[in-house]
Amino acid sequence: MKAFVYEKYGPPERLRLAEVDKPAPKADEVLVKVLAASVNAADWHVLRGKPLFSRATLGLLRPKHKILGVDIAGQVEAVGAEVTGFRPGDQVYANLLDHGYGGFAEYVAVPVDVVSPKPASLSFEEAAAVPMAAVTALQGLRRHGELQPTQRVLINGGTGGVGSFAVQLAKAAGAEVTAVTSTGNLELVRSLGADHVVDYTTTDFADGTRRYDYILDTVGNRSVPDFRRALAPGGKAAVTGFTSVPKLLAVSLRGGKDIAQVQAHVTTKDLELLSELIEAGKLRPQIDRRYGFADVPEAIAYLEQGHARAKVVVEAA
Ligand SMILES: NC(=O)c1ccc[n+]([C@@H]2O[C@H](COP(=O)([O-])OP(=O)(O)OC[C@H]3O[C@@H](n4cnc5c(N)ncnc54)[C@H](OP(=O)(O)O)[C@@H]3O)[C@@H](O)[C@H]2O)c1
Repeated sequence: MKAFVYEKYGPPERLRLAEVDKPAPKADEVLVKVLAASVNAADWHVLRGKPLFSRATLGLLRPKHKILGVDIAGQVEAVGAEVTGFRPGDQVYANLLDHGYGGFAEYVAVPVDVVSPKPASLSFEEAAAVPMAAVTALQGLRRHGELQPTQRVLINGGTGGVGSFAVQLAKAAGAEVTAVTSTGNLELVRSLGADHVVDYTTTDFADGTRRYDYILDTVGNRSVPDFRRALAPGGKAAVTGFTSVPKLLAVSLRGGKDIAQVQAHVTTKDLELLSELIEAGKLRPQIDRRYGFADVPEAIAYLEQGHARAKVVVEAA
């Protein structure tokens, strides 16, 4: 089968299109024919082996996982001997971040307990856009408990992969949503449901003028004092992204209980909840760009620039 492989950490050009063996599903796995994949920040972090401390788990000198790609949607091709819940032909989606990656390939074997039925109303490309970003948004918004409809919620990075889902999820929970983005994306974030917008090129949301009950920072470019200034009394913040290791450490070490880092883990329970919201018309993935399979390196390079308008997807090999 075709797959993008890499043997050394480095830039997207390190990825090489190769012919590799088609995986065989183990007893508790399903073999999925990948019909679409989406690109996530995790792909370029893992490709570059950055931050450096992440190599302790990714592989100290060389990457342990040769095929990247965490979000996939596709069709079940074959099932392992112990699998009962899925059959060949079923349409599914999954996230492989905690399960060996492997999405930028024609086929991938996936443990059955991380596979979910694809939301029927979504195309394969739209479905592939969902798992990592939408679950991170969901877990980020719930980091300090369920959102309350009366809360004033601010999403920093409202038009990114995570942010575009977070704006819609916070609206679906009934919150009053403010989204922070740049001038060219103000209309996009309004169309996702934001009640208020802040253009970060002209306005600092943390100048203390307005205060929020909950802040979800998907960018990770703010300090703990910035959050304290922008939070209402009793307010909480959750941070999914980071722009430097010192910023990441500052939140972890100085944020206390109320300003916390989020480490998302995609579960089928969360995917089922997202599927329900999608089928109820309350959540819709936004696709910025579609790339052909041969252009996986270009897709990753585009996302790495940090200004994607929602999700970037890759077509089937
Ligand atoms: N913790 C986890 O489990 C987890 C899971 C997934 C992702 N992440 C992390 O979360 C972060 C976001 O991921 P993503 O997939 O949403 O990334 P992305 O799609 O690349 O999002 C980038 C967004 O950030 C916005 N942005 C850039 N500079 C900004 C600024 N100064 N102020 C406000 N917004 C700004 C951009 O808007 P403009 O184009 O308008 O500048 C763009 O919409 C990444 O750091 C990623 O590593 C963490």
